[in-house]
This record gives sequence, C-alpha cells and structure tokens, in this order.
Amino acid sequence: MKKVIVAPSVLSLDYAKVETQLAQVVKANTPWLHFDVMDGHFVDAITFGPNVLKGFKKATNLFMDVHIMVDQPVKVAKQMIDAGADMITFHVESLDSENEIHQLIASIKRQGCKAGITARPGTQIANILPYLASVDLVLVMSVEPGKGGQSFMPEALDKIAYFDTYRKEHNLNYVIEVDGGINKDTGELCKKAGVDVLVAGSYVFEGDIEERIQSLV
Ligand code: DX5
Ligand code: ZN
Repeated sequence: MKKVIVAPSVLSLDYAKVETQLAQVVKANTPWLHFDVMDGHFVDAITFGPNVLKGFKKATNLFMDVHIMVDQPVKVAKQMIDAGADMITFHVESLDSENEIHQLIASIKRQGCKAGITARPGTQIANILPYLASVDLVLVMSVEPGKGGQSFMPEALDKIAYFDTYRKEHNLNYVIEVDGGINKDTGELCKKAGVDVLVAGSYVFEGDIEERIQSLV
C-alpha cells in the first residue's frame, strides 16, 4: 500500500497538554500539521488565528497546512501567511466569482505560500475543475466542515478517485488531501482511492498519538 502524509489536526489537541502532545506528534515523524481556522460565520465554530499558528511555528518546524473556513478568505489568508502558513486551502463557496478564486490562488502563491482548494460534500466537481491546473492541493472533505469527531462520508472516495484520474490524464501534480472521519479503516479506503494526505483529528489525539499516526501512514 502506498505511503501517505499524515496531517494531525490540532483542532482535537488537548490545549492543557500542548507541549507533550506536540512532542508526540514530532516523535511520530509526521511532516505536516493541519490547522482549522473557523470564524463563527462561514461555519458556526470559532477556533484560532495567526497568533496560535505563530506559537506552533516557534515550537516545531513542521509544514503548516492551514485550512481556512472563513467569510473573508483574502484577509485571513494574508494573516495566516504572515504568521508562517506553508499551505492555505480555502473553500470555493467563500468567494463570489471564478475570477476572485483565481485571484486568491495567484495571490497566495505570490506571497510565497502553496495554495489549495476545497471540495465539500455538496460541492459539484464542475465547480473545482477550473482551478485544478493552478492549485498545489485539492482537499476533499469527507464530513461537513465545522467540527471534529464526525463520521466519514463514503461519497468522498469517488471524488478522490476522480481527482486522481484527472491529474494523471491532464498531467497535473496537485496533491489530494482528505479531511474528516479518518481512522485506520477509512484511511485505507482513501489510500486505495488515490489520496496523498490524510488529515486526522480525533483519531490521532484521542489515543496514543504516536501509535495512531503510525497506523495511518
Ligand atoms: C472539520 C475539520 C477537520 C477536523 C477533522 O471541519 O476541517 O480538519 O479537524 O476532525 P476528525 O478527524 O475528528 O474528523
Ligand atoms: Zn480541516
């Protein structure tokens, strides 16, 4: 089975034990860390912003994979890039036109960061296609965005397979990431479908962190 990158989602981290839990993530040798930025508008929950990312950046040199679920993606992308984001992934639904989406992808890249686009469960693939030649990553959401600990939606597998076939046929090299309800079993299914990055929150942080990360690779 092919190897994937595991991106533990710090949404599920126990903030009373940040130091020890982060040390376990680092010990598991995983290269990425996933940040869910939620603004209380685009999704109901409010999570964290640039200052928290800065703190993690000081403590580790992991690749900072920032997933923004916000009403003002242009503003928030800039704040998170200034704080040290290595990848910004945003939702097509957070902007009004194709032109604005193209502009944000270009602007993220101009600021020296990688750019990703998200397909939520209800997002039509046709609404993602125009950007596939310009992005570094496609994020397939396997739950409705907004909180951790939900169950994996198997429809995500067809989307992963579609984006995998599409990149081969069009000679593109974006990375495919899946986010939501990932554990050992659902992770295997996603790998078979062609995924490259598994985001996992509750599965990783509600057990032995090092062991759980390694069980997904
Ligand atoms: C949900 C977030 C996810 C979340 C996943 O909106 O985008 O990254 O942390 O959590 P689990 O792995 O618990 O489904
Ligand atoms: Zn996420």
